Amino acid sequence: MADLLGTMRRTHHCCELGKEDIGKEVILMGWVLRRRDHGGVIFVDLRDRRGLTQVVFNPEVNEQVHDKAQTLRSEFVIGVRGKVEPRPEGMVNPNLTTGAIEVNVTELRIFNPAETPPFIIEEHVDITEANRLKYRHIDLRRPRPQRNIILRHKASAAVREYLNGNGFLDIETPFLTRSTPEGARDYLVPSRVNPGQFYALPQSPQLFKQLLMISGFDRYYQIVRCFRDEDLRADRQPEFTQIDLEMSFVGEEDVMALCEGLMAHVFKSVLNVEIKTPFDRLTYQDAVGRYGLDKPDTRFGLELKDITDIAKDCGFKVFANAAGKGGLVKALNAKGCMDLSRKEIDDLGDYVSVYKAKGLAWVKVREDGWQSPIAKFFTVEEKKQMAERIDMQTGDLVFFVADQPKIVNESLGHLRNHLGQKLDLIDKDAFNFAWVTHFPMFEYDETEKRYEALHHPFTAPLEEDYDLMESDPTRMRSRAYDMVLNGFEIAGGSIRIHDMQLQSKVFKALGMEPETYRDKFGFLLDALETGAPPHGGLAFGFDRLVMLLCGESSIREVIPFPKTQKATCQLTGAPSDAAITQMDELCLRVKATAKVEDKKN
Ligand code: AMO
Ligand code: AMP
Repeated sequence: MADLLGTMRRTHHCCELGKEDIGKEVILMGWVLRRRDHGGVIFVDLRDRRGLTQVVFNPEVNEQVHDKAQTLRSEFVIGVRGKVEPRPEGMVNPNLTTGAIEVNVTELRIFNPAETPPFIIEEHVDITEANRLKYRHIDLRRPRPQRNIILRHKASAAVREYLNGNGFLDIETPFLTRSTPEGARDYLVPSRVNPGQFYALPQSPQLFKQLLMISGFDRYYQIVRCFRDEDLRADRQPEFTQIDLEMSFVGEEDVMALCEGLMAHVFKSVLNVEIKTPFDRLTYQDAVGRYGLDKPDTRFGLELKDITDIAKDCGFKVFANAAGKGGLVKALNAKGCMDLSRKEIDDLGDYVSVYKAKGLAWVKVREDGWQSPIAKFFTVEEKKQMAERIDMQTGDLVFFVADQPKIVNESLGHLRNHLGQKLDLIDKDAFNFAWVTHFPMFEYDETEKRYEALHHPFTAPLEEDYDLMESDPTRMRSRAYDMVLNGFEIAGGSIRIHDMQLQSKVFKALGMEPETYRDKFGFLLDALETGAPPHGGLAFGFDRLVMLLCGESSIREVIPFPKTQKATCQLTGAPSDAAITQMDELCLRVKATAKVEDKKN
C-alpha cells in the first residue's frame, strides 16, 4: 500500500508559525477544528496538541485543492502544504500565538474523514460527564483535558528529576501479589495454574518497599498504580497512582524535609510557584480540635470552639446530656452572618445531618441579645462565658453541635469547609500545605468490635506510648504523618516498625491470632529478623496532587481514562461478563449475576 503521507512530512507544529516565517513553504498536519466558507475562500482552523493555525484555501491559488477543501468537516485529519503569509489588515488575532499569519494551501491530503463528533471540541461544552467519558478519546482533544494531561506529565517528570537527584532508585514491585492492607477491599485475580487461588492487586507497594529497605537499597521510589475496592468519591478512584517512596536510617524529620523539598520543586517546575518550607505542623489532636477534620483546610480561620465545660450543666438537655456522656459540644462562629435566612439555616442543618449530627442549634447575636430557639435555656453567666469563648459579637451567627466527639467534629468540620466556600472566605490562589502528625495508632471499629490500624499495621508506635498497647490502645499515638494541601490529604506515611517482636505485638493488638498473622505476614516477620534497618517513608496520592496543581475539583479530570462513581469504564464497558470457557479454565462459577443494566453508568 502506498504511504498515505507520500513525501509529506511535518515541518512545523500548529503553534509555531509567526511573522518571521512569512514567505516559507511549510507542511502542517492535524485536525480540522472549524471550517468557514467566506465568499469562495475557505478558512480552516487546523489543530494539533500544541495549538492552532489558520489555513486558507483560495480558488484563485489552486482550484482543485479548493474543491477538495469543500469536503472538509470537523475532526477530519489532514495534511497541508502551503506558504506562510501575513493575515490581511484587521484580521490579525492577538489572542492566538499564530494569529499574525495564515498558511495559503497548495496541497491538501485527507488522511481520514471523521464522523460528526458527539460534542464540539471547545473549552466549554454542555454535556454530561457520562458522555464525556464514553467518548473520552474525543473529550481528551478539548483544551482543558489536554492541558491537564500535559501538566500531569510535567509533574511526574519533575518528581522523577527531584528524586533521581536525591539518590532514590526507581524500582518496580509486583501487581500480582498478596493482600497489602490499607483499609480497603482487595481486587482479586484468580490464578489459572493454581485453581481456586487468588492474587490480590496491591492496595499499595507498602510491604515490598519495606523489603527493599531490608535489601539495602536505601532510597526507593516508584510512580505506581494502586488498587482499592472502596466507595468512590471525587477524590477516590479504584485504581489510582501514588508517588511511593521509602528511606532507610531516617526519622520523621528527614522524610518530611525531603517531601517538602519535593513539593517545592514540583510547584516551581510546573506552575512557577514558590512554596514556603518548612510546612506548618499540627498534631492530629490539634487538627481535629480546631478544624474538626484531620485534613484541615488552613486557607481560612473559622475555627471550632469547644464549650463542653460551659454546657455541661446548662438547661438545654441536648447539650447537657452530650457533655455528660463523654460527648462534646462545639461551636462555629459564622462572623457577620446574622442575616442568613431561616431556610438557609435549615439547609445547613440538612447538610450536617449527612455526617450524622442530630441537629444544628444556632444563635443570632443581635444588638438586643440572642435570637435563638435555645436562648431561653442558658443563664446570663453561661451566655457570657460562651460569648467570650466563641468571640460572639453583634451580627454573628453561631452554630452548635452536641454529640459523640466523632460526630461533632466531622459534622462541624465539614460545615466549616462548606461555609468557607459559601461565604467566600477562601483565597483560591493559595496553596496551604500542612503536616498532621501524632495520629492515634488504633481506632475502635464499633461494627467489627475490634481495633483497627488508623494508618496501616506496619506503622511504628510512639516510643513513649508503648505501655498503652495493652492498657489503653486508643490513646496510643503513632509515628504517622499526613501531608495536607488546601483541605485534601495528598500524602500519608510513617516511620515503620523494624523489630519483629514489636510487629507481632501490633498484629496481636489488632486482634489477630499468631496463626493468622504468620500466615498473612510471615514473610515480613521473617525478613525483619534478617537485618532490617530503621526506615520510613510516605506515599503521595499523585492524582490528588495533580488535581490541585490543575485547579480541578475531581481527580477524574486529571486521569486519562477514569472510572465512574460505580467503578465502571464508560468507554470500554468494563467490568464485563467472562466467557464460560474462561471461567471453566479458572475453575470459577458465578453464583448470581446482578443485572448488567444495574452495573453500568
Ligand atoms: P495511604 O493509604 O494514606 O498510604 O495512601 C497514600 C495516598 O494515596 C492517596 N489515595 C487515593 N487517591 C485516589 N484514590 C484512592 N482510592 C486513594 N486512596 C489513597 C491519598 C493518600 O494520602 N502505603 C501507605 C503509604 C506509606 O505509609 O508510605 C499508603 O498507601 O492521597
Ligand atoms: P429540639 O429541642 O429538638 O427542638 O431542638 C432545638 C434546637 O436544637 C434545634 O435547632 C435543633 O436543630 C437543635 N439540636 C437538636 N439536637 C442537637 C444536637 N445534638 N446538637 C446540636 N443541636 C441540636
